[in-house]
Amino acid sequence: MPDALTSALDRVVAWAGRPVIPTQIKGGLSHRILRLDTEDGDRWLLRVLDPRVSAAGLGIPLDLEIVNTTRAAETGVGARVLLTLPGAVLLEYIDGPTLDAPAVRDPAMAEGIAEACRRLHAGPRFATEFSIFRKQEELLALCRRHGLGTPAGYEDRLPAVAEIEDALAARPPATVPCHNDLLPENFILDGTTVRIVDYQLSGNNDPAFELGDIAAEADFEPDMVDRLTRAYFGDEDPAARVRLHLIMSNITWTLWFSVHHGLLAEHAAAAGFDYEAEAADKFAQAVRDLDDPGFGSLMDAVRGRRPSRVPRKAPPAPPAPPKEA
Ligand SMILES: Nc1ncnc2c1ncn2[C@@H]1O[C@H](COP(=O)(O)OP(=O)(O)O)[C@@H](O)[C@H]1O
Ligand SMILES: [Mg+2]
Repeated sequence: MPDALTSALDRVVAWAGRPVIPTQIKGGLSHRILRLDTEDGDRWLLRVLDPRVSAAGLGIPLDLEIVNTTRAAETGVGARVLLTLPGAVLLEYIDGPTLDAPAVRDPAMAEGIAEACRRLHAGPRFATEFSIFRKQEELLALCRRHGLGTPAGYEDRLPAVAEIEDALAARPPATVPCHNDLLPENFILDGTTVRIVDYQLSGNNDPAFELGDIAAEADFEPDMVDRLTRAYFGDEDPAARVRLHLIMSNITWTLWFSVHHGLLAEHAAAAGFDYEAEAADKFAQAVRDLDDPGFGSLMDAVRGRRPSRVPRKAPPAPPAPPKEA
């Protein structure tokens, strides 16, 4: 029986009416991604979805990913969908550089990234819902069920996760169609416009999560969180909400890498990527932020108990009391 890749390629050739030259694109962490060239100069992108990714809880069902990819394309932010196949999709090839973390951190990029998010979020709603809290529970249940290792101390932080959810629920926003996995490699610069690919985790969600997730994946300093928040919302008030979602991104995607490492080990070998080390790194970042003295101020701000512009650093310690003689 031909494998999914061969049969997808056969169908693309039948659709195109001419041969294609496939070149595997490195960098995809989950699926098989190929650039297809024709001899007369056309170029497309074939994304062959691996059903094990969604079966392991690491992505939405394939048919819904294709629906969401098509809706994202309607906004002009996603790549145009040229052909949908069972478990595969042929896309417009976006001819430009894929971003990396330094590019996403570049202050000059904030406006373009915010604009791409705004356009995506103003588009048709997705066929799936997404909550980072439900995803965290789901991945943790998977780890427990399969006895997969999580970074030391992970379970000790679960009460903080519940507190963050409670604080964010005080003033829930309307949900919008979100990508939910905006690591730098899912942004492509198309001329001066930022485009977004890879709708594996897409679903309607709090837009502050989208921004917090971008910030987590590109390791933003608080100043850059403020800048991106301002570029997206027009003011910095939601920055506390974005920063709590930044923490949730790191806490939850820690488990994405734990599950990937435990259940899809051969992927790791193929991608040349150390999923276990990435899990440890993400968790260390979450712990850093949970233990930061400013964490309580973020919680108060999202609950509306104090102005959102929270201090960046802990206030200076009060002078020591005079020593008794
Ligand atoms: N439509 C596209 N046009 C050009 N390059 C693309 C396109 N889609 C993906 N890529 C490139 O392939 C890489 C991996 O694709 P992606 O869809 O993100 O796969 P994965 O789910 O495995 O991360 C991206 O980081 C980007 O460099
Ligand atoms: Mg990707």
